[in-house]
Amino acid sequence: MPGIVKERLFTPGPTPLLMEAQLRALSATLHHRTEAFRRLMKETVAYLRYFYHTQNDVLIFASSGTGAMEGAVSNLLSPGERALIGTAGKFGERWVGLAQAYGIEAAVVSAPYGQCVPVEEMKRQLASAGPFRAVFVQATESSTGVSHDVKALAEAVRALPETCLVVDAITGLGTTDLRPDEWGLDVVIGGSQKATMIPPGLAFASVSEKAWKFIAQSKLPRYYFDYAKERKNLANGESSYTPATTLVVALHAALSYIKEIGRENLIANAALHAEASREAARALGLTLFAAGSPANAVTAINAPAGIDSGVIVKEMRNRFGAIISNGQGTMKGKIFRLAHLGYYDALDLFAVIAGLEIALLKAGHRVQLGAGVRAAQEVYLRRQG
Ligand SMILES: Cc1ncc(COP(=O)(O)O)c(C=O)c1O
Repeated sequence: MPGIVKERLFTPGPTPLLMEAQLRALSATLHHRTEAFRRLMKETVAYLRYFYHTQNDVLIFASSGTGAMEGAVSNLLSPGERALIGTAGKFGERWVGLAQAYGIEAAVVSAPYGQCVPVEEMKRQLASAGPFRAVFVQATESSTGVSHDVKALAEAVRALPETCLVVDAITGLGTTDLRPDEWGLDVVIGGSQKATMIPPGLAFASVSEKAWKFIAQSKLPRYYFDYAKERKNLANGESSYTPATTLVVALHAALSYIKEIGRENLIANAALHAEASREAARALGLTLFAAGSPANAVTAINAPAGIDSGVIVKEMRNRFGAIISNGQGTMKGKIFRLAHLGYYDALDLFAVIAGLEIALLKAGHRVQLGAGVRAAQEVYLRRQG
């Protein structure tokens, strides 16, 4: 074995860190009840609005993304109100679990893993089985590598004055063209350990005026994840409780970088990596897990017949220090996932595909070495010239 193996993350979170943001965070000594921090918070929120493509409020919580998801449920609904949930994977199921935890009755529209949430069925439910106070869905379902048509769903929800749309865009932001204001995405959830290139620990939620109206009426219990309280404090550059100061410093630096390169280019980068990974997989005789509408955020690939995907994941880790993801739940052993969230460049792409070819070979799959890399290179040249 070679003496040097560098660890690299290709997982759908955490993701590779922007060194500049890390260094800024490490060298920062800040107290949160100071003018300097208030200014930093306000600037960070302005950057978040840019990143989100929204003029809505964007709240920041010290928690993982699930905290803001839970907040969306507890802040929008009241006992007795109903929700509509679209699920086609492990993260969609999280919405179902959250609704249950708060005693909210939910109509669940589900699709098998690998398929998209059927928006037409969601629309039928909205038209015939309501009223629903909120509709919950993922922009991109990271467990299966599928992207959902939130634009079409938003069109239907926008027409209902008493219903709002909550989108878990934890892996959608920065990888997918989402237009909260144009389309009517009322609450959009994000997390720091994804396309924003910084460590886990922050959750985000953008909130529309329509959603604020419901939040003012909502009666479910809540304390830490109190959206209205956070909004009030954030207007002064403060948070209700001690903020994760170093992560906010890192976020400020990372979002400033993202603004510099342009959010469209960040999304195009993920799209290129996703397309190249799909083409590489096909060239290596593999099939994709996503039946249609594959996400830019993450590519889920079926393990070759007779090979446990865990063997491929292990080969990648042990030989190359490349951390890729196994499937979750019943998909474990059957698929592996390569993420394209945030700070990846073309050489990362070529390298991970080259490593994958060897890992597949060692796992017992017949591989023509170079076929996957070539496919990725061709996509690169087609897109980048
Ligand atoms: C689509 C999606 N939703 C929700 C989550 C949960 O986020 P967290 O682990 O930050 O709570 C993840 C995490 O990977 C995700 O990819």
